[in-house]
Amino acid sequence: MNCKDILPCRSIGGTISVPGDKSISHRAVILGALAEGDTLVGNFLDSADCRATVDIFRALGVSIIHEGGHVTVKGRGADALREPDDVLQAGNSGTTTRLMLGLLAGLDIYAVITGDASLRRRPMDRVTRPLSLRGADFRGRGVRMLAPVAVSGRRPLAGLTYELPVASAQIKTSLLLSGLFAEGPTHIWEPYKSRDHSERMLTAFGADISVDGNRVCLNPGCAMKGREISVPGDISSAAFFMVMAACVPGATLTLVDVGLNPTRTGVIDVLRDMGAHLRVEDVREEAGEPVGRVSVTGGELHGTTIDAPLVPRLIDEIPALAVAAALADGKTLVKDAAELRVKETDRIASVCDMLRAFGVEAVETADGMVVSGGNGLKGTVVDSSGDHRIAMAASIAAVLAEGKSSITDTDCIETSFPGFYRTLKEVCAGA
Ligand code: S3P
Repeated sequence: MNCKDILPCRSIGGTISVPGDKSISHRAVILGALAEGDTLVGNFLDSADCRATVDIFRALGVSIIHEGGHVTVKGRGADALREPDDVLQAGNSGTTTRLMLGLLAGLDIYAVITGDASLRRRPMDRVTRPLSLRGADFRGRGVRMLAPVAVSGRRPLAGLTYELPVASAQIKTSLLLSGLFAEGPTHIWEPYKSRDHSERMLTAFGADISVDGNRVCLNPGCAMKGREISVPGDISSAAFFMVMAACVPGATLTLVDVGLNPTRTGVIDVLRDMGAHLRVEDVREEAGEPVGRVSVTGGELHGTTIDAPLVPRLIDEIPALAVAAALADGKTLVKDAAELRVKETDRIASVCDMLRAFGVEAVETADGMVVSGGNGLKGTVVDSSGDHRIAMAASIAAVLAEGKSSITDTDCIETSFPGFYRTLKEVCAGA
């Protein structure tokens, strides 16, 4: 198990880029495999999670050339997918598992999907329940349908009208993928808008999909065509460095080629609201996604409130934002974020544990936390519990703390941000 010793540093700055977006990388491989013709993916996130998606499609018979950040998916349409002859391994990736369950549900095959210990604790009933309504059959452990999950797909599935109980792009996408082969339309409504990469990419591949606010409608039957996709930098990875710079008054850091999809930019809004200066420039569109440059100048931060409908726009950034809350004057309240309890770890508990280890007062609530900030961070030892975002949040907290810290179990960072410590070093030497 890897352990990282980190010393404080206040001279933060420079210009950096971060690896490709995880959500978009998964979707590019999935839609590429369902389309006819080659899909060329540039700046693909070459991380453990996205490699799991690539390997699963290879097990389903798709030819994929993967060389680091370049992937070519040789799609031959959904009819060419074959039944896998072994259990599919999703590793740590909830996105892979939930999206694949939707896709497999609509194919006439039997498959079993599982993953690591963290993944096997995460509820899959949130997708298997609505997918069962349209005719697929699942077996899993207990009422929450824990992995390994076995799926007997059915083609065609029935049409579906479904109101999501929580704003979740994984559930929404799982249902949309199953709807591609259904015999009727898929109508989905979510309480707040979650990330819309699937809707954008399905449109770009030629699917028949329409969006009206929080409602999505997909009609089956449109053949999709392979295409080129350039994946923007992942704002969820950029967030750790945005927070680091935001917390040091006068520090200036520029992040280039960052994805700026409005369903993901809550972190920018919150850091501005807390008193940091963030400038968004040079915004352009690449493969249907806005991309641009973000310059952050640190300020004297103050506490804030994060609640619905902001939560889905920054759900993965709460570990990073909690570090800003710890250094901000006053209280920060996170509400309406019970979804954090079913991430790679229970992130309400693990974020509060991490902050308390640094000497910060952090109190769990049922659906969030209250962080009392402004008294500094004391160097400490933190165990990531195998959660990549906890490991990275603890690492930036360590940079901003007084005294040395050690973060244990940092291998998990590979799931979303290979090269994280290289970039951290660059930022600390960049002022
Ligand atoms: C993701 C959606 C979010 C997010 C996850 C990636 C996606 O999960 O937390 O890291 O790619 O669709 P939920 O859909 O469960 O909110």
